Amino acid sequence: MVIAIDGPAGAGKSTVARALAERLGFTYLDSGAMYRCVALAVMRAGVDPDLEAAVAPIAADLEIELDGDGAVRLGGEEVGERVRESDVSEVASRVSVHPAVRSAMVGLQRRIIESGDWVAEGRDIGTVVCPGAPLKIFLGAGEGERARRRAAEADEPVETVLAAQRDRDVRDRSREHGALRPAPDAVELDTTELEVDQVVERIAELARRRGLL
Ligand code: DC
Repeated sequence: MVIAIDGPAGAGKSTVARALAERLGFTYLDSGAMYRCVALAVMRAGVDPDLEAAVAPIAADLEIELDGDGAVRLGGEEVGERVRESDVSEVASRVSVHPAVRSAMVGLQRRIIESGDWVAEGRDIGTVVCPGAPLKIFLGAGEGERARRRAAEADEPVETVLAAQRDRDVRDRSREHGALRPAPDAVELDTTELEVDQVVERIAELARRRGLL
């Protein structure tokens, strides 16, 4: 069973999804880490990230392992920290517009979540990866607040993060496949004024009320 958590960068998805998974005894799936692995492989291959024909074979051939605790292995190498750096974020946003990349990642994600209980986090979990999920959450927060959170995490100036975030938001929302948008049956939660614990509690309560626990 899957609880889907989607939303833009900095809305608190990763922190909330990880804490929720721990609280419910589910496993956490960070789908963004997979797009970040594609980006890192593309950067290492020296390929133009905007060229779908060059990126697609790389995405189709990746060996990605996620352990649910933030560890990410690409071809056996631990890259959990590297893929979170801002150069990889930028390229991840660009490679994730390509339909061939999306279908490779969606296929991998569906295989991973086929059995067991998952809190899966991303942009298109509720709309594309898992449209049958019994609980879909769409997390949002004000643009400034999202940038402040990312800046604190990455120890970068807020203005720089905000500018990059705007570019990524536009790409995430306007791409043709897997665009960032709430599923029609998603519960939308604005986290601007909420602590992580409060968000986790609200989602856990929704899961309880739906008889999922
Ligand atoms: O959630 P994140 O910031 O780690 O995601 C990295 C990039 O991957 C981001 O630019 C959007 C993209 N992504 C996506 O297109 N679909 C997902 N399900 C998850 C992430």
